Amino acid sequence: MIYFDNSATTLVKPKEVISAVMEGLTKYSANPGRSGHKLSMLCASKVENIRNKVKKFINSDNAVFTENCTDALNLAIIGTIKSNCHIICTSNEHNASARPIFEMAKKYNIEVSVATPSKAGILRAEDISKHIKNNTYLVCVNHMSNVDGEIADIENIGNLCKQNGILFLVDGAQSAGHIKLDMKKFNIDMLALAPHKGLYAPQGVGVLGFNNDIEIKPIRFGGTGTEGENVYQPTTSIERFESGTLPTPNILGLGAGIDFVNAHFDEINSKIDDLSTYLNYELSQINGVKVYTHPNNSFGVIGFNIKDFGSTEVSQILSDKYNICVRGGLHCAGLKHRYLGTLEQGVVRASLSYFNTFTECEKFVRAIKQISKL
Ligand code: ALA
Repeated sequence: MIYFDNSATTLVKPKEVISAVMEGLTKYSANPGRSGHKLSMLCASKVENIRNKVKKFINSDNAVFTENCTDALNLAIIGTIKSNCHIICTSNEHNASARPIFEMAKKYNIEVSVATPSKAGILRAEDISKHIKNNTYLVCVNHMSNVDGEIADIENIGNLCKQNGILFLVDGAQSAGHIKLDMKKFNIDMLALAPHKGLYAPQGVGVLGFNNDIEIKPIRFGGTGTEGENVYQPTTSIERFESGTLPTPNILGLGAGIDFVNAHFDEINSKIDDLSTYLNYELSQINGVKVYTHPNNSFGVIGFNIKDFGSTEVSQILSDKYNICVRGGLHCAGLKHRYLGTLEQGVVRASLSYFNTFTECEKFVRAIKQISKL
């Protein structure tokens, strides 16, 4: 099987990640921080070590473990909500951020502007600045589109937000592991991660990084292992955002994933760069194929269509006849397809990881050539 659906979830996990999860399941499955016994305390200290590793990885003051990236984005958006104000998001938003924004907008009388790129291939600060109003309090930007890999210039957008006193939230679901993230350098106030993608971690844990001067209100309530006498949610410790038992084995896997990415960052991304440059070029040479990913974008997310074939039909053929896994359809990113004009057809997406090979890419191109002749 050829697995080119790594933007959904990376299939192959490094052996170090698998060992860390196994170790979590066999040795560290006590409840972290809930009981006073040795093992619970040991698990809690393991979790805190990984929290520190995550903070260092993204250069943030704080990191909250969430269920997934969607959960992290919900916490960021709903936890900082302001009524009767204005939010800017972008045409690259995944529904993980678009839906909480639009749902909250309806409930709290918030106006939403959707910024689109004025220049092909990159969403720039100018594309955001023209939407800023007196009551804009949040800018939410998808760093790397999950449909075609389009990038946002988060460094300049971060500066713009800082100058205007606007909260800056970045969805790093697709970019983490591919582009170095530095919350302080880029003036990012809140950053959401999907570790099961480019950080090669298991599913079942997400991250929200945020800086000390940001006030976020918890959106879920329950046991935190602290202030047990209080029927109200604690207001100070990081645990106020982590009600319920944490997934220790997944968190250990996340730690190992970060170590793997840190140790092999250049190698991983130079390989993905080579493979996606090859795929982008070869696909664009096939009669009837339209590639949506910018030719200079080589982050491993290649969106394309063949003639007017339905994208889900093409992905079905690839699965059934060629044993190749890609994703067709709308990729939970309706705003992006509205922008691309592909709401009907969707887009076929091939997404790569470090564990893909050149031979797989060659086979994929051959398959697309054959399908394009149907
Ligand atoms: N957000 C994931 C994707 O793009 C699931 O496929």
